[in-house]
Amino acid sequence: MSILNIIQVSDMHLSRGWGYFQDNWEAFIDAMQVERPDFIFVTGDMCFNGAKNEDDLTYALSQLERLPAPWRAIPGNHDIGDTSPDLRLKGPITTARRTRYLRRFGLDFWVEDLGDWRFIGLNAQLMESGLAAEKLQMTHLSNALARADGRAIALLIHKPLYLHDVGETGRTLSSMWPKSRKRLLSLCKQYRVKLVASGHRHCYRSTRHAGTRLIWAPPTSFINSLVPSEGAQLTRRVGYVHYRFQGRTFSHELVEPPRFINHDLRNWMSANGSSTKLPPLLKGAPL
Ligand SMILES: [Fe+2]
Ligand SMILES: [Fe+2]
Repeated sequence: MSILNIIQVSDMHLSRGWGYFQDNWEAFIDAMQVERPDFIFVTGDMCFNGAKNEDDLTYALSQLERLPAPWRAIPGNHDIGDTSPDLRLKGPITTARRTRYLRRFGLDFWVEDLGDWRFIGLNAQLMESGLAAEKLQMTHLSNALARADGRAIALLIHKPLYLHDVGETGRTLSSMWPKSRKRLLSLCKQYRVKLVASGHRHCYRSTRHAGTRLIWAPPTSFINSLVPSEGAQLTRRVGYVHYRFQGRTFSHELVEPPRFINHDLRNWMSANGSSTKLPPLLKGAPL
């Protein structure tokens, strides 16, 4: 049985004018030239501040087009804004912001069938946003699950379903809100979803809920500490995830290329609250 090599890369936070994390992106592209995976899933926050700066979306797309393998992306809060009212960055998802994303990256929820697997991409920020497309996405998800034709199922969504505990209450922008979490977990149980792969937390973690493996991909950009006590199992490092799918099973590993530099934004975040407040920085093209 053949093996599907699939990469999950997340949270690159790229920008033409704020090029703080371009170095790791260059190293990632070089790693992919060697690796030549079958597919690359990009799980959001491609942009430094795409919700406020439309050129970040244009630039992020130009960077993804350099990848030497087929890819598909879902949006993060730094690409289209966060779920309203977006108390942190104050640039909530709107139809206009979503449209700017769709014009470049295509649909923000989709299905990709590879081997014996169905990968379903979702827009986390759209859930509980009140936008008209919210219902369309749920219909898409129901249909994609019901018509999977016996394929094993994986969901890709920028935000993790929860941080510490499945029963946690409150609406944090760090994870899905309780209503959406309950709905998604109920579908995971009904359709025996094997994997939920997310980004957003800027650290790596692999846990399990019932029959579903929950994987947080690390960023390529920077580490932070917005939520200080997420449990001992997380790895606060930059990197990416390499999956090997064989039949209906899979394995995965955290990859930390030697050229990846662990940008630590904890000083900046505790002083200024957000990476988006960093001053512009032009980085030269690689030699
Ligand atoms: Fe991010
Ligand atoms: Fe994010």
